[in-house]
Amino acid sequence: MDFKRYLITAALPYANGPVHIGHLAGCYLPADIYVRYLRAQKRDVKFVCGSDEHGVPITIRAMKEGIAPQDVVDKYNKIIKDSFAEMGISFDIYSRTSNKIHHETSQAFFTKLYNDGVFEERESEQYYDEAKGIFLADRYIVGTCPVCGNENAYGDQCEKCGSTLSPEQLINPRSALSSAVPVKRKTKHWYFPLDKYEGWLKEWIVEGKKDQWKPNVYGQCKSWIDSGLQPRAMTRDSNWGVPVPLPDADGKVLYVWFDAPIGYISATKELTNQWADYWCKEDTKLVHFIGKDNIVFHCIIFPAMLKAHGNFVLPESVPANEFLNIEGEKVSTSRNWAVWVDEYVKDFPDQQDVLRYVLCANAPETKDNDFTWKDFQDRVNNELSAILGNFENRAFVLMHKLCKGRVPTLHADAMNDMDRALIEDIKSAKTKVETCLENYKFRDGLYEVIDLARKGNKYLQENAPWSLAKTPELQLENQQRIDICLHLCLQLNANLAILLNPFLPFTANKMCKKMKVVERMLDWENAGRIDLLKTNYPLLAPELLFRKIEDTEVAAQMEKLKNNLVKSAAQKMENTTEPVKAEAAPAEAPSKKAEITYDDFAKIDLRVGTIVKAEKVEKADKLLKLELDMGTEIRTVVSGIAMHFKPEDIVGKQVTVVANLAPRKMRGIESNGMILMAQNADGRLIFVSPLETADNGSEVK
Ligand code: 2FM
Ligand code: ZN
Repeated sequence: MDFKRYLITAALPYANGPVHIGHLAGCYLPADIYVRYLRAQKRDVKFVCGSDEHGVPITIRAMKEGIAPQDVVDKYNKIIKDSFAEMGISFDIYSRTSNKIHHETSQAFFTKLYNDGVFEERESEQYYDEAKGIFLADRYIVGTCPVCGNENAYGDQCEKCGSTLSPEQLINPRSALSSAVPVKRKTKHWYFPLDKYEGWLKEWIVEGKKDQWKPNVYGQCKSWIDSGLQPRAMTRDSNWGVPVPLPDADGKVLYVWFDAPIGYISATKELTNQWADYWCKEDTKLVHFIGKDNIVFHCIIFPAMLKAHGNFVLPESVPANEFLNIEGEKVSTSRNWAVWVDEYVKDFPDQQDVLRYVLCANAPETKDNDFTWKDFQDRVNNELSAILGNFENRAFVLMHKLCKGRVPTLHADAMNDMDRALIEDIKSAKTKVETCLENYKFRDGLYEVIDLARKGNKYLQENAPWSLAKTPELQLENQQRIDICLHLCLQLNANLAILLNPFLPFTANKMCKKMKVVERMLDWENAGRIDLLKTNYPLLAPELLFRKIEDTEVAAQMEKLKNNLVKSAAQKMENTTEPVKAEAAPAEAPSKKAEITYDDFAKIDLRVGTIVKAEKVEKADKLLKLELDMGTEIRTVVSGIAMHFKPEDIVGKQVTVVANLAPRKMRGIESNGMILMAQNADGRLIFVSPLETADNGSEVK
């Protein structure tokens, strides 16, 4: 099919936290590269995204931060939107599912399915918190895990042993909101009969997309379909979300995975009056960029909804990526094990493209990949800078030195085989990058660009114009060779800017400025040409495109990761309700910690102290204020152990203290350190104390 227009969507991130580099690598960066490539080809393209502002992830975060859900989404929508803008993710619109247009669009969608008799109404029994007067989503129910005995397992998952649970399996369930014992109550919901679409999905995906969709995407869909599809509730009991547009549906909202993908339609409506062209005309190519945890929603549930509604195009492709781990461990928002984009742009001002480079060169396209700060440094310094940056710089330096700062003449009739081979390389690079990008192979595409720069370096090395200039007796003849060589190098450089533009747009722009060409030169049709720079045209002075990433910067980032981990552990002690990511997203497996060096360990000042006073902290169920005799001083430490010990029982105990932890205020009390505890599988805490009484203040090593 010859597509006339392109509608590219990137998953709407939950506005319950900032975005991290795993989000960029998984979804937003490949989408942006693809869109920039399409735009450079002058294709008719719209790129839509926005914040997903409903669902349990938002209300849980609100509970955790002690603010209203509206404040949560206002706060994070801004942070996320700014992060994307900083990183050059060039959406045509970044909308919000709290917008009126979205509420109307998703309600109209629901109403159409309702009126067409698509939904099945079903009553079921669900847990209800009588104290708070609300039905409890799975995450709001806590209880004892039937597998490992953890007393704080959630209704959908035990974070200690990783078991997937249902609320009914929990022993002694209680409400996370009020601690009340929940009761079962009947409730009515509207179910989308996915089972009725099984035949169609088999034909459309299992038979139709086998050789078109990425194997990871196809495989996940096939196994879902093969295991049999069940009707799925499209509404929830909640006061946060899009209200169900029916008269007997008070206190019910659309399921977040019903309304969120409709957000793509609402955002397009908000963007253009021509929105229906993009959603309803068959010659539109709809592509959803997502991470792997969103596959079933975009490949099965949303297409089935679109099919049931009628009049909508279906996704042509869903090039989902796998996950990006950090320093060998799964990203964990609750443990704060992540590289946050808003922090990266502050720590590395004007270094967006080097991150784009590393995330694309190391993209988790076919399997989970690992991001390490050392690899970041190596790729920037030894690939991007050493190959592409170096080539560009050499071409400029030599042109200024040997050709008076102007584009030299080509002398086409004096070209040799090496020159002609380089011209071929320039032309074929265009086709190679194109093939990669058309097939969503962004990593390979970027490799081809770097490879062209590599060929440029080799060509320069073989021609060695600097040594030709050293033999004055052959000056005329040699100058001709120098001119040809540098002319071609500069044309190659202009080609690099075009090919690089979708991947590293900031750099491509910088390159244009140095070549004093307008941005229009970056149009894709110009790639492969060797007449982009006019002979005798003066170019700007050389200036390095990339700076080196220093060892100290890598060390600082490693330190930051570790500190975040320690901080989040301390926070957890204070408040056991953690932010969680998606509804129905795969659970974060409990992971072991990254290896550390002896030097890392040696930074922690562990000391023995004795608890001389312990008292409850007002209005904080979990906190005890401890006074510790540290030998030379009495220290105050606030510890989240109040649920486990009575203050009077622990006075006199010796404990191990992290003595150099940065001070932190908890409920207005400054805590100066942390005491170490062991935690049993059943959640019980045990003091980590010396076996024999030690002197207070003595070092533990
Ligand atoms: O996983 C997530 O972050 C979801 N908010 C993605 C939604 S994508 C689409 F459906 F809107
Ligand atoms: Zn468990």
